[in-house]
Amino acid sequence: MVGMITSAEGWTLTIVPDASVMSAVAADALADVLRADPGAAVTVPTGRTPLGMFDVLAARAARGEIDFSQATLFCLDDYLGVSPEDPNSLTGWLWRSLIARINIDPARVHVVPATADDPAQAAFDYERELSAHGGLDLAVLGMGANGHVAFNEPGAAADSRTRVVDLAPETVAQGSGYWDDTIPVPDRAMTVGVGTLLEARRIVLIVSGNAKAAALRRALDEPMSPETPASWLRLAGPRLHVIADEEAASELSVVRPG
Ligand code: PGA
Repeated sequence: MVGMITSAEGWTLTIVPDASVMSAVAADALADVLRADPGAAVTVPTGRTPLGMFDVLAARAARGEIDFSQATLFCLDDYLGVSPEDPNSLTGWLWRSLIARINIDPARVHVVPATADDPAQAAFDYERELSAHGGLDLAVLGMGANGHVAFNEPGAAADSRTRVVDLAPETVAQGSGYWDDTIPVPDRAMTVGVGTLLEARRIVLIVSGNAKAAALRRALDEPMSPETPASWLRLAGPRLHVIADEEAASELSVVRPG
């Protein structure tokens, strides 16, 4: 570990050498929460960033070192109208990448209702499910190169809740790398809101690679702004822990003062 910095706003930043250390530190944070409260409610992100963390969690679960049997997982987002059975669903992807590899009870996995007939009502109901559960104990999040968190794209307000959103063109373009090219890449999604995430008792933001360096600088070094939704996470103060590898942290003022 290269070092942990506590900001004037109270949040902490750990800079680690590479993505594999980031994955191990993030997996430790999740394991600590489950050790303290085996019935904790957590989120994990989708995308390439968490894949290493998923491997660590799956290996630890196989060795019996981490127990998900009482844990609850709330999914963060999915494309609108795409069901988990669809090969392009983010929920389906999360199922294959993590859920099927750990001993979580599928009944305790809450899926974003992206195929509901009335998405606005279903999004509201998802929020109610989350509050009925007592809220999130830990939100592990990733960040897009445009500063999005979950599918809260630039423009998202700090108090936004679970809702249907239009995806930014760069997010649609990024998604096309994953999508079956026989169908158009969706440009709408349902996502948990920034305000929803800010209520989590702990937030861990994992960021890796040069492609994220400019967004991380905007998120942490510049004034908080809807143009960089990840910057709102600083409102969580000491409840926010950012884990970035050296490449992602390379533009931060703590690394390059002045
Ligand atoms: P990535 O996606 O981990 O594949 O970079 C992160 C995101 O867009 O939220």
